Amino acid sequence: MTTTGLDAAALLGRAGELADLLVDTVAGGASVGFLAPLDRTEALAWWEGRAAGVAAGHLAVWAALDGDRVTGTVTLAFPDKPNSRHRAELVKLMVHRDARGKGLGRRLLTTAEEAAAAAGVTLLHLDTETDSPAERLYRTAGWARAGIIPDYAADPSGVLRPTTLYYKHLSAR
Ligand SMILES: CC(C)(COP(=O)(O)OP(=O)(O)OC[C@H]1O[C@@H](n2cnc3c(N)ncnc32)[C@H](O)[C@@H]1OP(=O)(O)O)[C@@H](O)C(=O)NCCC(=O)NCCS
Repeated sequence: MTTTGLDAAALLGRAGELADLLVDTVAGGASVGFLAPLDRTEALAWWEGRAAGVAAGHLAVWAALDGDRVTGTVTLAFPDKPNSRHRAELVKLMVHRDARGKGLGRRLLTTAEEAAAAAGVTLLHLDTETDSPAERLYRTAGWARAGIIPDYAADPSGVLRPTTLYYKHLSAR
């Protein structure tokens, strides 16, 4: 199992696999921005739409590979405002359902954190559905809970759920 950064061309080359991963994640009930059932064409278009952000340096995307198969991904989103260059948002951490529970999510999280620190980012933040399995991962990885926003986003079935905001200070390298 390896993790690899995807430039814009690599992301486009892997967009089909990333779309399959997104469809699987939504089908599994995770709140990652989409309602179920997620159409693969929509998922593919969404990933292809990320390439411009990667090329511009606004997004950094990693894929976890088992052999040549994409089994997980994570993204860092960098704000473009001059007063926010020290921080980034961690988004779309996803592991395929058939690859979960083997440390892959934690490895992707560590990859993103280390890359952020190496890039001079000193503050990471994220939101995740309250009481989701991901919460335990973030807490055990040293993330601090900032608070809960009720009715923040609809889960894949369309029911509004609360989200928990997390942040983590990094040491710039
Ligand atoms: C959250 C997610 C990325 C974890 O991926 P994973 O590869 O299964 O995670 P790991 O095997 O690295 O486990 C890391 C930790 O997460 C926690 N965890 C993982 N799955 C869990 C579950 N089903 N229930 C409770 N805790 C769980 C555990 O604390 C685990 O640490 P441990 O090994 O010390 O017990 C994966 O479940 C996923 O893709 N979920 C759907 C998408 C999602 O919710 N993403 C987060 C959006 S912000």
